[in-house]
Amino acid sequence: MTSSANEMDTSLGERFPRTPEQMEQLRAKGIAAAKRLLSFIDASPTPYHATENVAQQLREDGFELLSERDAWTLEPGDRRYVVRSAGTLIAFVVGARSPAEAGFRIIGAHTDSPNLRVKPLPSLTRKGYQQLGVEVYGGALLSTWLDRDLSLAGRVVYRTSDGELDTLLVDLRRPIGRVASLAVHLDRTVNTEGLVLDKQKHMVPLLGLGKDKIDLAQELADQLELNPEAITGYDLCFYDTQKGSLGGLRDELVFSARIDDLANCHAAIEALCGTPDKLDATAVVALYDHEECGSRSAAGAASSVLRDVLGRVALAYPEGQVQAFPRAMATSVLVSADLAHAVHPNYADRHDDNHVPAINRGLVIKTNANQAYATSGPTAALFEKLCHDVGYEPQHFVTRSDLPCGSTIGPITAAQLGIQTVDVGAAQLSMHSCREVAGSLDVYLTQQTFQQFFR
Ligand code: CO
Repeated sequence: MTSSANEMDTSLGERFPRTPEQMEQLRAKGIAAAKRLLSFIDASPTPYHATENVAQQLREDGFELLSERDAWTLEPGDRRYVVRSAGTLIAFVVGARSPAEAGFRIIGAHTDSPNLRVKPLPSLTRKGYQQLGVEVYGGALLSTWLDRDLSLAGRVVYRTSDGELDTLLVDLRRPIGRVASLAVHLDRTVNTEGLVLDKQKHMVPLLGLGKDKIDLAQELADQLELNPEAITGYDLCFYDTQKGSLGGLRDELVFSARIDDLANCHAAIEALCGTPDKLDATAVVALYDHEECGSRSAAGAASSVLRDVLGRVALAYPEGQVQAFPRAMATSVLVSADLAHAVHPNYADRHDDNHVPAINRGLVIKTNANQAYATSGPTAALFEKLCHDVGYEPQHFVTRSDLPCGSTIGPITAAQLGIQTVDVGAAQLSMHSCREVAGSLDVYLTQQTFQQFFR
């Protein structure tokens, strides 16, 4: 039976009707893409793990690590990446034409997510419980960290046998801790008046019973097969041990931690690895740490990192000279990729009536007149064209005029580089929850759109 016009699916836009069979094929591609994304997220409990996993994928695709300490010589077609501060990674494929002529095509995203981070002197014993003191990193939705089976991961600094400092990634993997909620019987108004969580008092995970303080160096040393005396420091995050999953009756959803913003890190890297060696313009992916705490650090979006890397690429061409970098910036485009707020069926009034992004309808262009997003009319139009080329109508988001607007790396990078920028991202629910919700078809559409951008 052939499909008649009224059977056509127009959920990706009136201009892009598809038969039910075509939609089914697209959904299957979404599910396959989402499975790959989930294995990346599960293996990346911290920005350091995300960076290392991305680096490994890049190496398998022929990319080579460059040190910022070395002098660089670059040729068209070279695939290279740079890591700064272990949580920020910039990868690029050098284009056939110089950046001064053809500009850079850049996709930006961030490797960090809100979580609980271990304090320098964390060990506590209270009322017979062993605990570790934590700081709240970023704008975590605190209630979602309650009653989760938590583990610890991050990086450990240690002194080698010849006295040098080195670092190792660590992931304890076992559910060793929990921020236990208070029984409803001891807080009778919690469901009617709301849960109030004090970051200092109420978010301290418990890790066991006993009068002795936890010897964290010993635990880390056991895991890493190091001498505990060799350990001199660490950056450790608690994370939820529950693996990510496809969800919904037809696997149309993705349930996972850290979708914001590992989904875009993954899509950007997949797109970069999919580019041919012969590109006109230099393709760049910038994955930043420290977005969730404002980007002001040695490797965040407000740092010199992207300017330093792009400047060196621009000067590597024979015609590279003082004017090469500003010329390149004037011709370049940045796609700042971070998740968008899908309209929530239980809280639909939180969105502006005309701007109600939905899950699995493709990327959302985010706009804010006060530059919390860096999108402009021209950059929105440019991005809209990419989405059309992929075969869908992009969605639009603007926050309600009576609500403050979130922000991301787009405006910060735009301010650093003076580069044309568009802020985009797939629609998700429960942003900054310990376990977020997104759409599997959107995972595929995001990758396709980013690939189209580099082409
Ligand atoms: Co984000």
